Amino acid sequence: MAEQEHPSQNPTNHITEEYRILHKVAQILQTQGELEPMLREAMRAITGFHELKVENKAGIFLANEKKKVLQLFTTVGDFSEEFLEKEKNVPFGDCLCGRVAVSGKLLMSESCYSDSRHERTFSDMTAHGHYIVPLKNSEQLIGVMFLYTNTNPVWYKHSQEVLLSIGGLIADAIQKKQVESELEEYRHRLEGLVDTRTGELRQLSHQIQKIREEEKSRISREVHDELGQSLTALKMALFQLEKKFPKENPDLKESAQSMLDLIDTTIKSVQRIAMELRPPILDVFGLCDAIAWQAGEYEKRFGIKFNLNCLQDQMDLDNDLKTTFFRVFQESVTNVVRHAEASQVDVSMSLQKDQLVLTIKDDGKGIHKDQIEGSNSLGLIGIRERVRYWNGEVLFSGAPGKGTSVEIRIPVSKK
Ligand SMILES: Nc1ncnc2c1ncn2[C@@H]1O[C@H](COP(=O)(O)OP(=O)(O)OP(=O)(O)O)[C@@H](O)[C@H]1O
Ligand SMILES: [Mg+2]
Repeated sequence: MAEQEHPSQNPTNHITEEYRILHKVAQILQTQGELEPMLREAMRAITGFHELKVENKAGIFLANEKKKVLQLFTTVGDFSEEFLEKEKNVPFGDCLCGRVAVSGKLLMSESCYSDSRHERTFSDMTAHGHYIVPLKNSEQLIGVMFLYTNTNPVWYKHSQEVLLSIGGLIADAIQKKQVESELEEYRHRLEGLVDTRTGELRQLSHQIQKIREEEKSRISREVHDELGQSLTALKMALFQLEKKFPKENPDLKESAQSMLDLIDTTIKSVQRIAMELRPPILDVFGLCDAIAWQAGEYEKRFGIKFNLNCLQDQMDLDNDLKTTFFRVFQESVTNVVRHAEASQVDVSMSLQKDQLVLTIKDDGKGIHKDQIEGSNSLGLIGIRERVRYWNGEVLFSGAPGKGTSVEIRIPVSKK
């Protein structure tokens, strides 16, 4: 079909309208939001293109390169059920749209009845013409847009350029949305993966802690019982022996006495080591007793005063959970000793609703926000991880010169 030049009587109006449409479509395609309503709005703008006599009917196919088929994505205007059903999939090369999918070129059809390429027909079909616009950018053909027109639509060169430009814009907009939704999907998948892995690692870390605690407990018992008993037996034997030493040989007696003293010191060391590994008090008595004992030890060793307000020993806590509270307490006080320059530590434990809350507060120099958030050291991370395993919460807070507080809350069910 012959290309028409501009009608010379009215070129300016025509070009103005083309640019107005182009501008409007570009604006619509830049808006945020869902792809489908955006494309429908763009098509409505295009169907208002008077010079082309575009009817108020149009639609967009997306190209499925793998299956070599166009898939109907959305339409504007009145289309019959039959049409929508039949046009769901149009193979590449089929009818007008399929041909454009193959050629990538703009196509104009004067009438569905006289154009032999218009292979598909519908029972309610009335005479119409078409512009079929490839939706293609520099990279690929994304889809095809079909516009219904009166029969024998105009075929101005300018209008064709505008339609091709619009096709390019729509292709870019579709591709952008597709990339965005792919990215979103990857992000989702990645987040899911990270969540799963984190959960697994947390479980593993808990398992390792548990094994370590069991090991410590076993070593503590063996050191205490076996070594302790042997040393006591040795002490008794030496004591008996010493009695038999002749009085006229005071050197021997003296040596025996210093050996007895050494055995006593060793027994104390063994007891201390066993206690430090895992205080049996934690397993035998309650958490508060264990904390009180540990606080007493710290007072003796570091000269820090403890103010204990521990009310929860009536509770029968899970052994692992008890260990978590106790280790958090130890880690927090170790930090006080190492970093805080504090003289007093207030410890409180209470049941608030269904949460067991432990607070350790010192009167030292105060932890800084950066140290809380940016800590690469294992102390605070360890506390967080131990508590998260129980779905609990941790709050570190501090102010310069006003001390540091560590608060952990863990949901507990009363047994
Ligand atoms: N009670 C506190 N008072 C003041 N600063 C603190 C206190 N507790 C922690 N900090 C600061 O927070 C930082 C991080 O603590 P964290 O326990 O994670 O590491 P660390 O004690 O330095 O090393 P480690 O891994 O051996 O525990 C410390 O280096 C310290 O600067
Ligand atoms: Mg630490």
